[in-house]
Amino acid sequence: MMLIRAALLDAPEQGRLRFVEDGALLLEGARIQDAGRAEDLLPRHAGIEVHDLRPLWVLPGLIDLHTHLPQLEAVAQDGLTLLDWLETHIFPTEARFADPVHAKEVARAFFRGCLREGTTTVVAYGSSHPEAAELAFREAETAGLRAVLGPALMDRNAPVALLRSADRALFELESLGNAWHGRHGRLELAVAPRFAPSCTPTLMRGAAAVAARFDAVIETHLAETPAEIAWVENLFPEAPHYTGVYEAMGLLGPRTLLGHGIHLSAEERDVLRASGASIVHCPRSNAFLQSGTMPLRRWLEEGLPVGLGTDVAAGPSLSMFEEMGFACQAAKLRGEPIGVATALHLATLGGARALGWEARLGTLDAGKEADFILVDPALADPLGRESSEPQTVLSHLLYRARPGLVRGAYVQGVRCL
Ligand code: GUN
Ligand code: ZN
Repeated sequence: MMLIRAALLDAPEQGRLRFVEDGALLLEGARIQDAGRAEDLLPRHAGIEVHDLRPLWVLPGLIDLHTHLPQLEAVAQDGLTLLDWLETHIFPTEARFADPVHAKEVARAFFRGCLREGTTTVVAYGSSHPEAAELAFREAETAGLRAVLGPALMDRNAPVALLRSADRALFELESLGNAWHGRHGRLELAVAPRFAPSCTPTLMRGAAAVAARFDAVIETHLAETPAEIAWVENLFPEAPHYTGVYEAMGLLGPRTLLGHGIHLSAEERDVLRASGASIVHCPRSNAFLQSGTMPLRRWLEEGLPVGLGTDVAAGPSLSMFEEMGFACQAAKLRGEPIGVATALHLATLGGARALGWEARLGTLDAGKEADFILVDPALADPLGRESSEPQTVLSHLLYRARPGLVRGAYVQGVRCL
């Protein structure tokens, strides 16, 4: 057991911060056993070793719900929109993952990079190569973070080097799940049909069946750009809309994460709400590929579950602090601001909810698993000062994120940064 003493900041609801200036967390094994004011916890747990981390602040570990591991080296390739960018930059980059030495090297940098940015849970697509997926799990296991990983499933409309038959891809996916799903309580299989244009109905239906067998997270892309939507309408003329394709394939459920969801009709939003699936907002990617600006505030007001993702390589980095800041800016550019507290909520408890893990993660409450990060607010302050005003500090962290801001990361009570 260990007591951590520091300022505690989390966002248990949209628009609301919870702050304890002189706070404490009692860690027992992988869990937070007690949390609150130091003056209450210290006498209650007298004799337990105290780690005084002041003036650092403790925040819940950040949850990146959508990013692409093999794309890390392809960030910031400017000038194209989604479909041309995929063909020109992304598919060739992912094809390099046929080489296990390269796949391992990138995976190692990727997971260390997540932790350095304060991400303690990452949901990531791999390439389509099963050996690379296995290596990714091994690297995540070594890095110590929580990871939900799966190869990008594709059986059409991509270079041959990335395609696998539906039968083969599903067999390999199932083997990967048998080996890794649930390991250490922090590694899970993601079932990741890339998006409707690169998957046949056979592959999508089969993927849904594998996900049901493992109760696994499903991740895919939805309604990111107008050209992509037109392509889907062409490929699936019988479907009422893009969302209807995934519904018909059995891919929509409470553990489904839909990347982007920018251009959605009211009817599609009704289908999504009824299914319990979540939208993953990736605002830096949406700007970079000129995909559009998502009506975030409206989606939230309508009760759509939303989380945040960095979407590397369309997003330029693994920083969820920068993603939160940009989400605030993008919402303002639409004239529909959300505020920093809501951004933090989406990157923590919002992400946990989307994964079905709201009882386990996302806030600093007693009973939750001890996934949290340490940040140094003075580093983000323009004059290097310490402040105890949570709204100001969070604004600085989001709008002025910089390397070194995250000074530590714990997952299941174990320090991994
Ligand atoms: N849609 C299908 N694949 C991708 C991808 O790799 N990145 C993004 N941003 N959108 C996609
Ligand atoms: Zn993506």
